[in-house]
Amino acid sequence: MEEQERINAEVIAVYPDKVKVIVDSLEDFQIAGESLKVGSYLRISDNDNAVLIAIIENFSIEVNDKGERKHLIQAFPLGIIKDNKFIRGGDSIAIPPKKVEPAREEEIKKIYEQSIDPKEVFTFASLSANHNIRIPVNGNKFFNKHIAVIGSTGSGKSHTLATIIQKAISEKSGEFALNNSHVVIFDIHSEYKSAFPDANFIGIDNLNLPYWLLNSEELEEILLDTGERDNYNQSSVFRKLVTENKKKHNPTLTKVFYDTPLYFDIKEIQSALYNLKEETKNSKSSNRFMINDGSYVCIDSSTSVDSGILLTDEQKIKKYFEGEFSFYPTKNQNITKGEYADGTLDKFFIRFQEKINQDRLNFLFSTESKSKSFEDTLKTLMGYIDGKSSNVTIIDLSGVPFEVLSITVSLISRILFEYGYFYKRLRNSKNPAEKVNNDIPLLLVYEEAHKYVPNSELAKYRSSKNSIERIAKEGRKYGVTLLLASQRPSEISETIFSQCNNFIAMRLTNPNDQGYVKKLLPDTLGSLIDKMPSLKAGEALLIGESIILPSIVQIDECKLPPSSNDIPYWELWKDEWKHLDINELKKEWYK
Ligand SMILES: Nc1ncnc2c1ncn2[C@@H]1O[C@H](COP(=O)(O)OP(=O)(O)O)[C@@H](O)[C@H]1O
Ligand SMILES: [Mg+2]
Repeated sequence: MEEQERINAEVIAVYPDKVKVIVDSLEDFQIAGESLKVGSYLRISDNDNAVLIAIIENFSIEVNDKGERKHLIQAFPLGIIKDNKFIRGGDSIAIPPKKVEPAREEEIKKIYEQSIDPKEVFTFASLSANHNIRIPVNGNKFFNKHIAVIGSTGSGKSHTLATIIQKAISEKSGEFALNNSHVVIFDIHSEYKSAFPDANFIGIDNLNLPYWLLNSEELEEILLDTGERDNYNQSSVFRKLVTENKKKHNPTLTKVFYDTPLYFDIKEIQSALYNLKEETKNSKSSNRFMINDGSYVCIDSSTSVDSGILLTDEQKIKKYFEGEFSFYPTKNQNITKGEYADGTLDKFFIRFQEKINQDRLNFLFSTESKSKSFEDTLKTLMGYIDGKSSNVTIIDLSGVPFEVLSITVSLISRILFEYGYFYKRLRNSKNPAEKVNNDIPLLLVYEEAHKYVPNSELAKYRSSKNSIERIAKEGRKYGVTLLLASQRPSEISETIFSQCNNFIAMRLTNPNDQGYVKKLLPDTLGSLIDKMPSLKAGEALLIGESIILPSIVQIDECKLPPSSNDIPYWELWKDEWKHLDINELKKEWYK
């Protein structure tokens, strides 16, 4: 009895998802020098030397009928330590528990440290409740599964990305200048150059993507109006021309289809379109096209002088690729308009011409883009630059016109995915016993992911959504994983989100988003998830297969920060009136 009375803390209830503890004096309960707070850990032991570790979720004070004040602590059971090993889940402690006390720092450290083989350890955060405790994740599992970083503006997403990538590119298993990490950042706000000054930087001025690598959907998205896409004439004429032009430029290949990623000349398509919409033909012989260039003349079908007659459709189209011709007018009663010369292609032609000659789309349709080889494109996108290779490639999308943002992201993502696919095939063909599909794995980072892969069926997002969803579903086996950052998780495609295995959930204030995230996260989190709205900048709930326990952590500060979108208004406004060079501004504007 003596001993019983001295007990200061007692477990009064054990549920699968909750432990309740009554404490007489909080002072006596705490370990000297370690203050107890929400998020601290308790150890609850039984008579069989098993120890239940639980995380404190809340405190309250209860006054009993004798007027005595007691502290009621509710904690969420995380797992059991048995034979010096920590196991997730909390249902194997013998009841009633013998003793409850705050867990010691050493014990918690051990749980995290023991959980991961040292060579797989990757660490970028500390426990929020106790910064002395570093929180490692399993680096293989972390990067091999897609990662989602979510949080409201200002919660610390960009800094978190910077920290993770900076650490990933600097850790090495030997003595060499560059490690084998490969990260491509889709940077929509020009934020990351300052965090990665040595990166391979691609902005609108040096971005060259060959239009001929666009797939049919992407091409039609740029060149045909959405409303017109269903217009059979335009789309079928365009497909026919592209296919024929690909055949023309790749004469040695036998299988050439509309969607085969082969070179074709967009200017030649333009010429052919022009000719088709202007064409006239012999009303008696519909295969005689009335090009007025001296050699292709309207001739009598009875004569054998056939120099200007193009017999098949293919031959005609081939001729039409050569340039814009003039045609005999239809005044002559024997001459009628061609099949497409009734005005059906006029609007399409104007749009086409305008698009491919637009300065803003130079990065796709310029002579440089046209002549850029597939090899060079891939090298640039992956940072394999002769003499200046780089772990990080930043694709600054801030200058890409909004209407082609989706297809730009789509094209780049698709090329990088296919790199993984074909590289795996290559490795397997060289060595059928190969176990590692890709020894040069990539991480693709999408800031503001809801802008490329929204929960929306709108045509303008279709391309990027398709490409990124494919990576979400299949990328892992080809060594291409995603890191998605978003302030509006509820607006991200669910297909993509549900494929993520590692979550870094930062402060999230919008109730819609909170609800959505709760729904997607495992329900074994207890009330940890309710902390989301109150997290500080840089604090996050780290969840996933790569970490032994869901934990509230403080992400390490990055070495070099991404550039901030926060403008110090008040300081600037208090300064002296600033001169603004409108002419200089205009030059930039009209560039
Ligand atoms: N790990 C961190 N530790 C300390 N402060 C941080 C951390 N991460 C972010 N912050 C602070 O929070 C602010 C917002 O961070 P930022 O990464 O720009 O947020 P977001 O990208 O979510 O809008 C920054 O000014 C930064 O100083
Ligand atoms: Mg940001």
